[in-house]
Amino acid sequence: MIVLDNITKKFGDFKAVDQVSYQVNKGDFFSLLGPNGAGKTTIIRMLMGFIQPTSGNITIKGISAAETRARKKIGYIAEQHMIPPYLSGFEYLFRHASLVGLSGRDARIEVERVVEVVSMSGKEKQKSSGYSKGMKQRIGFAAAILGNPELLILDEPVSGLDPIGIRDVRNIICDLKSRGVTIVLNSHLLSEVEKTCDTAAIIHKGRIVIKDSIASIMAHGESLEDLFIKLTQET
Ligand SMILES: Nc1ncnc2c1ncn2[C@@H]1O[C@H](COP(=O)(O)OP(=O)(O)OP(=O)(O)O)[C@@H](O)[C@H]1O
Ligand SMILES: [Mg+2]
Repeated sequence: MIVLDNITKKFGDFKAVDQVSYQVNKGDFFSLLGPNGAGKTTIIRMLMGFIQPTSGNITIKGISAAETRARKKIGYIAEQHMIPPYLSGFEYLFRHASLVGLSGRDARIEVERVVEVVSMSGKEKQKSSGYSKGMKQRIGFAAAILGNPELLILDEPVSGLDPIGIRDVRNIICDLKSRGVTIVLNSHLLSEVEKTCDTAAIIHKGRIVIKDSIASIMAHGESLEDLFIKLTQET
């Protein structure tokens, strides 16, 4: 589904991402872990075609990530989800629906469905300027799952959510996975990753230091947290 082939991204002389290669197969739940500043968001921004790699290639279903058509049927949530304050959650999602090719009654039905999924029913008509951080994040997540994407790209989707919100997102993600959706997740919540993901990579200073299935990582008897600390404290 996704292939990163020897990706390097420089900002000036600084290498934020350094020769990263990995592959995410269809139906996989892949998590990218790493300390603050490791390069996780930079990789996702390249996947989404917002910025271009300095060298290397990224393809999604065989199409270069630089091309807009590569992002058909992709749901995405940014690290810091922004909703124009003058729009209600409903208006925001309704506009978003047009981006996935829905309009009129179909768009309204789909927006109502995702509003319900993220437990925002009854609050969707309020202006988002009055939403809490977690409410904005819920609407952002609703936008990501709108239109039944086949690939979900999530950059810390539960940041700012309360424990119920975290559980809700976990359940929604697991449900989508069981329906064959491919998921790429950036996260700091290692216990969530242990519970839900198939494969994880830890990135440190722009380089992948380990990539393996969660099952094999756990088979070594170490928790993901121990491994994370060990691999990212060494320079
Ligand atoms: N547009 C940019 N210009 C210059 N440097 C950048 C830019 N974007 C990211 N960086 C740098 O690249 C490095 C990786 O940043 P990135 O946002 O990818 O980290 P991250 O792993 O997502 O961290 P976090 O866990 O804090 O979200 C950081 O050192 C950051 O300062
Ligand atoms: Mg980030």
